[in-house]
Amino acid sequence: MNKFSLQPFNTFGVDAQCSNLIKIYSEQDIYDTLLTYGDPYKVVGGGSNILLAGDIEATVMLNQIKGIQVIDEDDNHVLVTVGGGENWHNLVMWSISHNLSGLQNLSLIPGSVGAAPIQNIGAYGVEQSSCFHSLRAISLTSGLTKLYYREDCKFGYRDSIFKKLDAGKYIITHVSYMLSKEVNINVSYGAIRNELNNRKIETPTLKQISNVICDIRASKLPDPIVVGNAGSFFKNPIVTIEAYESLLQKYPEIVAFPFGDQMKLSAGWLIDRAGWKGHSQNGAGVYKNHALVLINDGTNSGGDIWQLAMDIQADVLTKYGVEVAPEVNVWG
Ligand code: EPU
Repeated sequence: MNKFSLQPFNTFGVDAQCSNLIKIYSEQDIYDTLLTYGDPYKVVGGGSNILLAGDIEATVMLNQIKGIQVIDEDDNHVLVTVGGGENWHNLVMWSISHNLSGLQNLSLIPGSVGAAPIQNIGAYGVEQSSCFHSLRAISLTSGLTKLYYREDCKFGYRDSIFKKLDAGKYIITHVSYMLSKEVNINVSYGAIRNELNNRKIETPTLKQISNVICDIRASKLPDPIVVGNAGSFFKNPIVTIEAYESLLQKYPEIVAFPFGDQMKLSAGWLIDRAGWKGHSQNGAGVYKNHALVLINDGTNSGGDIWQLAMDIQADVLTKYGVEVAPEVNVWG
């Protein structure tokens, strides 16, 4: 069987082969692929939230369905439907250029629109779920189309039904967002407020917020074009108040945030404090400016990055009794 390299299609830049590689530009291309190639199928968008730990015996569909279309609008809102293969940051830039608010805090997140609902991307106090209206998906088994509204998606912190019950079952062809004509801003995140203060901006425009966020991201997170990575590799663990308080006694400087009636611990802090920041082994590394980000430090093999992730996970569990779970999808 022919093998195709996925190296150009994952932001870690590791080499892994798949059985077939098909570019999808339309829903018709999906039907044709389902009729022509055998299962299993996997879907890749921007490839920015996957770690290919090995080869994959699967037909990989590269979602390239493009387009941003205004579907409806009233005095206060605009409903846009976006192709799943559209670049996320392009959508954010489009919304800002049309003076529509809601997505500006999610500037510069790598990846595609079709992947955004899967892990419910979020940054700087906002998640895509806050503007999400609905999505259209095609079943990889039956070829039938299904519409999901917000409540169907069961969004949580870096979580949705597409990571649980419906994981791997659908290709998301279009996502609709309800954007606001009123300028609604959320600058609750300390780093944004501080940077706006530094720049002496009191009532920021959407563009100014986006610029600040792009600059903060660029200062902390590596550009995948320069250094292979997939953003935060692990999720911030959620623990009970009691567990947090017992950690706090041992580590008074631990970083944590209230999360409902629980606490969200900073995985970056735990990994940093455990001594992993800047560490490198077998071409896989922990980014020097942010311990939550694993980087490709010269390896061709996702297995080396996965090994590092497991070493970190085991060490954090031993040291703090807390499990840091991967945020990225690990295949192969
Ligand atoms: N910290 C350290 N050492 C580190 C990194 C972080 O001590 O090496 C501590 C610092 O106290 C820092 C705090 O952790 O102030 C929080 O760090 P940061 O603001 O970078 O946020 P995060 O919780 O590490 C999350 C998201 C990011 C998102 C930022 C900003 C997750 C898994 N990650 O990171 O999302 O950009 O908040 O909102 O929730 C991504 O998902 O790929 C991603 C980059």
